[in-house]
Amino acid sequence: MTETIDLAALPHDFAWGTATSAYQVEGAVDHDGRTPSIWDTFSHTPGKIDGDDHGDTACDHYHRWRDDIGLMKRLGSNAYRLSVAWPRIVPGGDGPVNPKGLDFYDQLVDGLLDAGITPSVTVYHWDLPQVLQDRGGWPERDTAHHLGAYASAVAERLGDRVTHWTTLNEPLCSAWIGHLEGRMAPGLTDLTAAVRASYHLLLGHGLAAQAIRAAAPGARVGIVNNLSTITPASDRPEDVAAARRADGHTNRWWLDPVHGRGFPADMLDVYGVELPERPGDRETIAAPLDWLGLNYYFPAMVADDPAGPVPHTRQVRRPGVPRTGMDWEVDANGIEALLLRLTHEYGARKLYVTENGSSYPDVVRADGTVHDPERTRYLEQHLAACSRAARRGAPLAGYYAWSLMDNFEWAYGYDKRFGLFHVDYETQRRTIKTSGRRYADIISEHARHAAVSSTRR
Ligand code: FCB
Repeated sequence: MTETIDLAALPHDFAWGTATSAYQVEGAVDHDGRTPSIWDTFSHTPGKIDGDDHGDTACDHYHRWRDDIGLMKRLGSNAYRLSVAWPRIVPGGDGPVNPKGLDFYDQLVDGLLDAGITPSVTVYHWDLPQVLQDRGGWPERDTAHHLGAYASAVAERLGDRVTHWTTLNEPLCSAWIGHLEGRMAPGLTDLTAAVRASYHLLLGHGLAAQAIRAAAPGARVGIVNNLSTITPASDRPEDVAAARRADGHTNRWWLDPVHGRGFPADMLDVYGVELPERPGDRETIAAPLDWLGLNYYFPAMVADDPAGPVPHTRQVRRPGVPRTGMDWEVDANGIEALLLRLTHEYGARKLYVTENGSSYPDVVRADGTVHDPERTRYLEQHLAACSRAARRGAPLAGYYAWSLMDNFEWAYGYDKRFGLFHVDYETQRRTIKTSGRRYADIISEHARHAAVSSTRR
């Protein structure tokens, strides 16, 4: 079955983008004054990353960015979501700014604009300078203030050309996966540290939003969360309550405070950890948002698990549901439901899908092509669902495919490939996949459609 993408439901100036993040693509980890981040430390700790991979070279984007802009042009995309590496800009974590670190992003931004591609800049995509981790990291309040100062330095330099800013990418992963589950840097399994980290991340979001707006008055500032639709495994009251907890842990904990609703009371009970709250924080965290970013990958069905780790829920496999190479369920209805939830429950005025994509074990065939029908279908299904949400009133302004190219997939290393372009890590050769061609076709179809409907007006 082919999915119908209702292109007429998407605005004419829709942002058709791709996304990457600094540590996953740049490499050049010791160039031009960059210091280690928590991900350099974590990935060089034996046993933490599949295949003991690390980001030392990654896609060598630091040197190949001009060619990589060429890939974006090949797709016909008009937007690109990148992140800035904190340890390049403020190598000491706080204190002096490193102009050479900023030079890289300065050139990249100019290159994108020359190519007609609008940059969307994320200030923090998980690469905390290790020196700040050594001083306690996100569980410490100072880290939030340092994020604000670093954001200010970036916005001062790029804010004359960049209007689209994200404070944090997926704070859930930094806090819960990094400090509670231990599967990501800094690799802790400590509930108190995790809750404190979550608090200071959101405080940092508010401070960074203020700093960006002060340095770049035209800035449009948002936050990017990875959300999931959650359903109970049965109608047993225990499972229904478990689904509510999972929703609190995954969704509401991150959405309520930034919308001025404070941290969800039911989850404070579940965690039983006192928040390091100070007067005025609530307002800082609820800095006005120009837009909300949704990263969507999979839904979750959960059951009660009293003996399991916080929030005492267990994910249940739905039989017969297709799965990606990450073992993540494929269910495009989730993206539609979440876009509508952000619209209705949180009153979002503008939404972007800031990441969406799938990993499959691609191979380059003898004729040099990469055929990825499953990823192509995933893309079509999710774009169709996005267009349904737009048709039903979600103010969706853009979609960024994860990812432009295969890259360092955190704890999974290079084995998991999400790109629209395949990367051969030996040669750094990029090859467009069938999904990339399909994305290019969709983008040009939308452009034709927009042209026709504007002449008709
Ligand atoms: C998201 C991350 C992104 C990428 C995708 C697959 O959680 O934001 O960096 O790893 O997952």
